[in-house]
Amino acid sequence: MVIARNPEKVRDIIARARQKQKTVGFVPTMGALHQGHLSLVRKAEKECVFTAVSIFVNPAQFGPEEDFSRYPRSFRQDRILLEKEKVDLVFCPQPRIMYPEHFSTYVQESALSDNLCGRSRPGHFRGVCTVVAKLFNIVQPDKAYFGQKDLQQAIIIGRMVRDLDIPVKIRICPIIREKNGLAMSSRNRYLSSEEKVQAAAIYEALFCARSRFKSGETSALKLKNMIKNNIKAKAKKAKIDYISIVDYETLQDVKKIERKAAILAAVYIGKTRLIDNIIIKP
Ligand code: PAJ
Repeated sequence: MVIARNPEKVRDIIARARQKQKTVGFVPTMGALHQGHLSLVRKAEKECVFTAVSIFVNPAQFGPEEDFSRYPRSFRQDRILLEKEKVDLVFCPQPRIMYPEHFSTYVQESALSDNLCGRSRPGHFRGVCTVVAKLFNIVQPDKAYFGQKDLQQAIIIGRMVRDLDIPVKIRICPIIREKNGLAMSSRNRYLSSEEKVQAAAIYEALFCARSRFKSGETSALKLKNMIKNNIKAKAKKAKIDYISIVDYETLQDVKKIERKAAILAAVYIGKTRLIDNIIIKP
């Protein structure tokens, strides 16, 4: 496994892989790796001959009051995990490599980025799109793997590569969960054991809403209220940021579920903001 700290080295290694006609799969991450990340790596390895992973805690996607400085960093452990998975290349640049002095060019998707997490985290998706576009330019993968865990992010990236003609296929992979249903996340490391138990209420409530939908309830308002009440009843420390039901294509809120849709939740458990979602199809 090669560790590259600058774009030149990445380009060099990728060029050699390409000479051997290898297809390149790419998994961008911010590190503090868990089974969710590793599921993407395994998918990439199944579909591609050469697998690259990036580890970069991207300052541009964190708001001034957010957790950039305390975001978990565990490079040694991450490296061991990726070596075990037989990853070919790990790109882990320093911020000054990605954002040199006088950096002034950003990528902004403008139809899907303002709702949901974009509303609570202004500028977040501009930071995500900018770094992912840069990473795509550096790695030039054939396929890139994203988790449904961050559904809005994955859909926005899909729109960005289509709109900007970036030649990469975006694959969205299922959410990996703890035994109690809690979606795995690097931020789960912030939770106390009691908070982890309470956090399971988020998925339970989403799951329950999907069952209600399957047995005929199509009113978004009723389902959302049900979810809110369920979470509040089970998790005393929960503060709801949003519960939304949106059209899967446009990410705009719907009143009645008539097409493929997603139910998304962002909930604070104590001080930690967690997100989760579930896809529903009539
Ligand atoms: P990060 O939060 O590290 O996530 C990296 C990738 O892992 C994302 O595509 C995310 O959706 C996926 N992932 C996280 N938890 C998952 C789970 N429980 N199951 C399945 N997939 C999961 O998302 C980012 O980093 C950044 O925004 C990034 C795209 C790297 C740009 O900086």
